[in-house]
Amino acid sequence: MNPPDMPSGGSKSHKLWGGRFAGGPAPALEALNRSIGVDLRLWPFDVKLSKAWAVALWHAGVLNLDESAQLEAGLDGVARRIAAGVVPQPSDEDVHTLIDRLLHEEVGDVASRLHTGRSRNDQVATATRLWTIDACAALDAAIRALQEVIVTHAVALEAGAVLMPAYTHLQRAQPVAAAHWMLSHFWPLDRDRQRLAAAARNASSLPLGSGAVAGSAFPVSRVLLKESLGFAQVSPNSIDAVGDRDFIADTIYALTMLGVHMSRLAEDLILYGTSEFGFVKFGDGYSTGSSMMPQKRNPDVMEIARGSVARMLGDLTALVVTLKGLPSGYNKDMQDDKRALFDAVDATLLVLPAVVGALGEIRFDAEPMRAALSSSMMATDLADWLVEQGIAFRDAHAAVGRLVREAEEQGVDMSALPLDSLAAAHPLFNAKSVTRALAPEQSVARRAVEGGTALESVRAQIAAARASLTPQPEVRRGNELVLQPA
Ligand code: ARG
Repeated sequence: MNPPDMPSGGSKSHKLWGGRFAGGPAPALEALNRSIGVDLRLWPFDVKLSKAWAVALWHAGVLNLDESAQLEAGLDGVARRIAAGVVPQPSDEDVHTLIDRLLHEEVGDVASRLHTGRSRNDQVATATRLWTIDACAALDAAIRALQEVIVTHAVALEAGAVLMPAYTHLQRAQPVAAAHWMLSHFWPLDRDRQRLAAAARNASSLPLGSGAVAGSAFPVSRVLLKESLGFAQVSPNSIDAVGDRDFIADTIYALTMLGVHMSRLAEDLILYGTSEFGFVKFGDGYSTGSSMMPQKRNPDVMEIARGSVARMLGDLTALVVTLKGLPSGYNKDMQDDKRALFDAVDATLLVLPAVVGALGEIRFDAEPMRAALSSSMMATDLADWLVEQGIAFRDAHAAVGRLVREAEEQGVDMSALPLDSLAAAHPLFNAKSVTRALAPEQSVARRAVEGGTALESVRAQIAAARASLTPQPEVRRGNELVLQPA
């Protein structure tokens, strides 16, 4: 007698396996094994690779031209049905099983010939790589949109010669051009785009033809498959090809770093948007109110952006822990790779446009930014001035330190100290030179090195930022050079 949860005899459902079992799978196994809720979105890529496989089987002499053409047309029909919203049956284990069932419904028995010399192991690896290459292009476009808003703000801030404090240890450190601060958030995003382009390049190695683990026994041309599917290369080892998920880890790591960068931009803006700072104001379209306190204007977008990196890091951790210690080849543990990949990409593509919108609406208030510059922030400039007069930096540091202490003790700005105090701190100080060295504009203008905050350096930086946004050939798909989306 069968246990109550075991169906007797073979299941009538459309399965890609099962012939060797006398009994059908237990419902709990089916529920556990089923991944269609996660992997259905791979369908356009599974259809595409299946069509390429039908052609490869014809070239290899396994199918005749008519059979291959029937399968191709049938797969187009399957794609139309899924696009129109076909509802998977409980027995559709995964996207590959679903497509196989629908193909049978489209073309009948010839559908059974398609799964010759291939396995879901090389199939799922191929489809996931195609999906990832596509996702990396979409992510690149979304990050560029954020970079463009940053450049737009930087251009306006530079034109207005807006100055603000730069912070170290979150203590006021030195005056900088506000455009310089804005652009400090541009370059991390540039690195994120490079990391994603590298992840896409790593994904661009074709597993199809690797079969379950040992390689296809039919003489399919993997080079033709690579060309027709737009991969840059053919995987060199079938065991590695069905077990390699590095490209997913690369992608999620790139998104984790992007999340880290968005969290730091968000934190700056949240802080600068407080009444205590008052440097920025959030627009209406991306601010939320409070159910209790009518005066509130909350930067929810930035807070969610700040928090969302937790998801990416969680996904990265889940994936890497899943892969660690797996024996070589395919293992079913890997089925969950897509859950992590899709979640990290989805979360990023949800957060990015909102950050773009919120940052686009932000208005800068130059006055409080300027008012936050106290003359003690020019202490380094004062010490530098003494160095220019031939004094050693250490002695200059000590002399200025004494002035800072005195100003602090008297509760006045350094520029308001009496001449006596200045002369006592260092005989070379005289009122005129001190006043000059204590002007924030002067402090900013002196930092004209590449990457410095002087306005001319910032203008060069804006030009470099714009150049980095011009499309460059990045991902090679077969013989075709795919441009980064403009
Ligand atoms: N749904 C499976 C996955 O995503 C497809 C591969 C199944 N392979 C197997 N040997 N059962 O990993």
